[in-house]
Amino acid sequence: MSTTDSPDGTAVPSLADPGTAGVRKVRVHHLAQAKARGERLTMLTAYDAVTARILDEAGTDMLLVGDSIGNVALGYDSTLPVSLDEMIVATRSVARAARRALVVADLPFGTYEASPQQALASAVRLVRAGANAVKFEGGRPRADTVRLLGQAGIPVIGHLGFTPQSVNALGGFRVQGRGEEAAETLLADAMALAEAGAAAIVLEMVPAPVAARITETCPAPIIGIGAGAQCDGQVLVWTDMAGMTDWAPRFARQFGQVGEALRQAAQAYGEAVREGAFPAEEHTFSH
Ligand code: KIV
Repeated sequence: MSTTDSPDGTAVPSLADPGTAGVRKVRVHHLAQAKARGERLTMLTAYDAVTARILDEAGTDMLLVGDSIGNVALGYDSTLPVSLDEMIVATRSVARAARRALVVADLPFGTYEASPQQALASAVRLVRAGANAVKFEGGRPRADTVRLLGQAGIPVIGHLGFTPQSVNALGGFRVQGRGEEAAETLLADAMALAEAGAAAIVLEMVPAPVAARITETCPAPIIGIGAGAQCDGQVLVWTDMAGMTDWAPRFARQFGQVGEALRQAAQAYGEAVREGAFPAEEHTFSH
């Protein structure tokens, strides 16, 4: 693998490089390069610095400060109550820890839909908190917003298919893009976002053949979640990926049992304290 340093210190991969592996800091242009070379991109959610550091060190290309923070970390029962202030605190924490990964922050419900100008004002706050790009939900009606943010120098990642902020309008957690007409609509939405300058598009809960067609046709990298194996990359909520919970959606795979390991560590700590086995001599200041 070879890299050359650009004036800003960023390692620029040569055409022979395997994926973003040789890149010191992932930038939005690397996403398009990866798609052009047929190299798969990885994205995981992160909501705090301690987790972000581990996921970043593991070589994850993109850390998504998702509004799934609502369900995962803040105890809400959906993403809808998440505020911009909550997203800003989480974005600051993740951005401080991320060395290599591109940090993407979600615009939460109610902070971008009214107008492109409203979206710009919200996005500026996330970028000031350390986001390298912002993500928001919606297709053709959001194309002008993608354009305005692009003009302001803010890269945008779109989000199509099942869009959790529209859970009430979509009638629950349902696969989207089933049937010829719905598939065409999704493709037209993806093309409009790409045409407006979206750096990538997250595609959630879409039948694999529909996602494969969108991935093949759309110039923007397609990052799938429950959208089959043919997408340009994959994203998962980190707690689903790491096995933090008893339940995970059907499209997620648990690559570890971190929740069980944490439970066992906490039990062992509790037993050691109760038995007087912790703290031991080596944990104690004698004077
Ligand atoms: O907020 C989030 O975690 C997301 C992913 C489901 C893509 O948007």
